[in-house]
Amino acid sequence: MTLSNSTAASLSTESTSNPEQQALLTATHLNKTVQVGEQSLSIIKDVSIHVDAGEFVVIMGKSGSGKSTLLGLLAALDYPDSGSVELAGQTLSSLDEDALAIIRQREMGFVFQSFHLLPTLTVAENIAFPLDIARRPNKARVNELIDAVDLGHRRHSLPNQLSGGEQQRTAVARALVSQPKIVFADEPTGNLDEQNADQVMNLLLDLRQQTGSALVIVTHDSALADMADRVITMHDGMIDGSTVNG
Ligand SMILES: Nc1ncnc2c1ncn2[C@@H]1O[C@H](COP(=O)(O)OP(=O)(O)OP(=O)(O)O)[C@@H](O)[C@H]1O
Ligand SMILES: [Mg+2]
Repeated sequence: MTLSNSTAASLSTESTSNPEQQALLTATHLNKTVQVGEQSLSIIKDVSIHVDAGEFVVIMGKSGSGKSTLLGLLAALDYPDSGSVELAGQTLSSLDEDALAIIRQREMGFVFQSFHLLPTLTVAENIAFPLDIARRPNKARVNELIDAVDLGHRRHSLPNQLSGGEQQRTAVARALVSQPKIVFADEPTGNLDEQNADQVMNLLLDLRQQTGSALVIVTHDSALADMADRVITMHDGMIDGSTVNG
């Protein structure tokens, strides 16, 4: 199904809205332009999207279609040129960096395309990091996650001593450790073999079941898309389709 950007956005709102379920995340008319030499390039064009509490949304689309950029805007890691993002009724673009940092620590988890592990911290320290900076250390929770990602034998290893799959599992454990309301993941299974990919996905889905976290996952994996509540397709910086899985 291919729809115009605004039709797709409103259709996706209507088709999943449940009066009893308030949208957790609402992005409205996002635009993002980057400067490349003399040229100003529009890479996100009037994108509106919402995610309900506990919802699992997959974002698909060709390389360069704007998926990572959109994820960065939704997670308030990057500012739009215009448009707004609200999380649980709070407008993120109106907050200063300190207030945003607190929301990111408490309410959000991130799994990036490249893992962004802190190179001087061990596996256990990387996983504990979100709790430590929020001054809510919790060894039991860290150990639970280390076991869940099957890295007990690597807890004292540094990231550069780990395989790609081990690094990715560490990044997933770190994203989940503070039981965030919403987890953003950019191709979390992209560089993994089938076994590691399944393990990472099961972790994310288990978390969702246990804590009701919403998941927003960018992926090229159609098996993953089949598991989602809703699949949004991007093309050239716009949403050009939204499918609700029955
Ligand atoms: N800082 C930047 N400066 C210039 N161009 C950028 C910048 N960031 C992104 N782009 C361009 O914007 C477009 C969207 O990039 P983005 O990384 O969001 O794509 P993507 O859908 O995540 O692709 P992939 O599947 O390859 O990860 C691309 O054409 C990219 O080259
Ligand atoms: Mg990307």
